[in-house]
Amino acid sequence: MTYLEHFEQIVKDQLARVEAMKEAQAAPDLTSKEKIIIGTIDGDGIGPIIMDSCRQILEKLLADEIGSGRIELRRIEGLTIENRIAKMETVPAEVLAEIKKCDLLLKGPTTTPGKGDGMPNLESANVTLRRELDLFANVRPVVIPEQGIDWIFYRENTEGEYALGSRGVEINDDISIDFKVTTTIGTQRLARAAFEYAKNNGNKNVSIVTKANIMKKTDGKFLSLCMDVAKDYPEIKVDDWYVDIMAANLINPLFNKGFNVVILPNLYGDIITDEAAQMQGGVGTAGSANIGDRYAMFEAIHGSAPRMVADGIAEYANPSSLCRAACMMLRHAGMADRAEALEKALDAAAAGLDMPGDGTGNTAMDFTAFVLEQL
Ligand code: IPM
Ligand code: MG
Repeated sequence: MTYLEHFEQIVKDQLARVEAMKEAQAAPDLTSKEKIIIGTIDGDGIGPIIMDSCRQILEKLLADEIGSGRIELRRIEGLTIENRIAKMETVPAEVLAEIKKCDLLLKGPTTTPGKGDGMPNLESANVTLRRELDLFANVRPVVIPEQGIDWIFYRENTEGEYALGSRGVEINDDISIDFKVTTTIGTQRLARAAFEYAKNNGNKNVSIVTKANIMKKTDGKFLSLCMDVAKDYPEIKVDDWYVDIMAANLINPLFNKGFNVVILPNLYGDIITDEAAQMQGGVGTAGSANIGDRYAMFEAIHGSAPRMVADGIAEYANPSSLCRAACMMLRHAGMADRAEALEKALDAAAAGLDMPGDGTGNTAMDFTAFVLEQL
């Protein structure tokens, strides 16, 4: 294929994606659904360890619903880096078919092959799942009460640099080109979700983050579409920031309390949410929700921690982030009381356990026992 044909194909695929977005199914009302299937996906590295903890906790928390058949916790096998490499599929077709039978998904971290680590060039399973299930909003709260910080990030989750992240071109030894995509529907639906959240939670401030002075077409479009959506919410205070100064302002106590809801394109959202999570106590402490119209997937914001596994200290992995994601899942399913109970237990665990992640202190098993005791 020539470069021009490659580019033509990319454009055609993106136009087709826009058409598919127009056909998106309406969200099912989980509260009135007779049975909710929650698929749990272990993932790689520390994934099975933290998922084991989280499943035990959910089994206790949801014992009544599981007993009555209202909720099924279903283990989804096969989303491991070994199986993915064996099949040479980012998400093997039969695994994806099982995933699509669920309503909600709780997902452990999955390894993404990077350049130079000797693994074949597979796309990130996260990126594939977000795209296949059309999970357009990545919602990541960060709360630090003692600093007056109450943030929730709405990261665009299917577009930007990620839409074609594995379809860039190495032209020759001298030049490589990647692509970035912004669509009208993709941006509007994300902005709408963020503004609705802000409105339903006491008209919180909304900040839009881009680099529209440099990425004029994609970020420029993103910013102006978000500003258009803002017009439907005249009671909400809106501002916009470039991502570099936003990274600085988040750690500036003079500014950071003033931010509430933050809307970002995909890659900036990836970076800024790690920064924010670190301020809260580390990426192991934050949960993340991937919300679409038909499906929703909840996950830890950290990766599979291959270094912890290589160093033989995987059992010291902290399940908090995945459990925080489970709280978001419970709220999403209309079980706010259970979410609150679990949040309280997780707060107690954060205060009562010592989990620095360096092979000292408490293990994931200690964590499980502690949280089960609290519930
Ligand atoms: C995240 C992760 C993923 C991302 C990786 C694992 C592909 O960093 O969920 O933030 O970049 O989105
Ligand atoms: Mg990230």
